[in-house]
Amino acid sequence: MLELSPVFPVSASRPAVIRLGGLALRSRYTLAPLAGYTNLPFRLAVREVAPPGLATTDLVNARAMLVRSRRTMELIKTCPADRPLSVQIYGTEPAIMCEAAKWLENYGVNSVDINMGCPVHKVVRGGGGSAMMCDSVSTIALVRAIVESVKIPITVKMRLGWDDDQLTAPFFAREFEKAGVAGLTIHGRTREQGFSGHVKLDGIRAVVEAVERIPVLGNGDVRSLADAERMLRETGCAGIAIGRGALLNPWTFAQLERWERTGETRFLGTYRERLTLMDRHFRLLVEHQTERFACLTFRKVATWYCKVLKPGRAIQQELVMIDSLRHFEEIVERIGEIIEGRGADELPDAEMNIKVPSGPIEHW
Ligand SMILES: Cc1cc2nc3c(=O)[nH]c(=O)nc-3n(C[C@H](O)[C@H](O)[C@H](O)COP(=O)(O)O)c2cc1C
Repeated sequence: MLELSPVFPVSASRPAVIRLGGLALRSRYTLAPLAGYTNLPFRLAVREVAPPGLATTDLVNARAMLVRSRRTMELIKTCPADRPLSVQIYGTEPAIMCEAAKWLENYGVNSVDINMGCPVHKVVRGGGGSAMMCDSVSTIALVRAIVESVKIPITVKMRLGWDDDQLTAPFFAREFEKAGVAGLTIHGRTREQGFSGHVKLDGIRAVVEAVERIPVLGNGDVRSLADAERMLRETGCAGIAIGRGALLNPWTFAQLERWERTGETRFLGTYRERLTLMDRHFRLLVEHQTERFACLTFRKVATWYCKVLKPGRAIQQELVMIDSLRHFEEIVERIGEIIEGRGADELPDAEMNIKVPSGPIEHW
């Protein structure tokens, strides 16, 4: 049993209810964008078992959205059950970014998030993503222009800075608040760190202390209630954006809410419920994509279902090569037999097998 303080204090930086402008979030735990994973079927599946306070799409290129690129339109595909929803955009040209925000407002999303954290070369070489944290004048002007072009809340997701010598997040946080940004998410790593090492909670704390009113969501490496408790206690953040932890344990949002309300730390989600979730996730993929495409998309996530379901190597190999709904149904039946009789599932200690950019950072 975890030793956690059951109730943590509400404070100036951590209101009882997080508001992004006029949008009140139902909880302080949100789903962070994970390109390749946080698509509509996954968001819907998670919302059905444990709704996050807010879910965000994968990052989308604002310019590609305005020309209605097929791939980009797929990334922003949504439906009424997929609320509240934020679409994350990236780009550097004010006219395009403002136009994209206006288009999304008409499209009906609840908020627009600007990506300033992405470290990959494809995004930073054009000055977007985390490279925006190196050019204060144009970045602040861009953010102000976007805020002024729409009525829905604009938020920013950023890192601590480019590297340890340029920890610009507190400065930007202050300036973005003045520009009218409704909230911030801070991934507690620098661009130079990529996804290596640990998040720096004191860096997130510096951002929380830099703003006056707007909510700051801490982000990075939260995979358990203990991690969440530490993030909240050490940074004073208003809430937490959870990425990889939600892939491994979608119930994390419900667990955190319950812990906050009651102090209860018991793990949620039995083997049977996990199998039902996997089944639902696959069927949503088929419903919103083609069967063939659903199979290809599912291959990417099959391993993290197997990490918890532990159906054995042979079934895992079949699942990552899945090629039809019929085959999937047959595998689900076989896993059902294997897990029969097991009790509550436990989070494995193993590192999550989620691909992150690696190798020399200049090559990302
Ligand atoms: C595979 C992958 C894809 C990601 N895609 C995005 C993205 O599209 N936009 C973004 O702002 N951050 C993205 N991130 C960063 C996450 O949102 C988050 O900041 C980071 O993973 C740390 O949080 P976590 O430990 O809870 O996952 C991505 C991370 C991973 C691992």
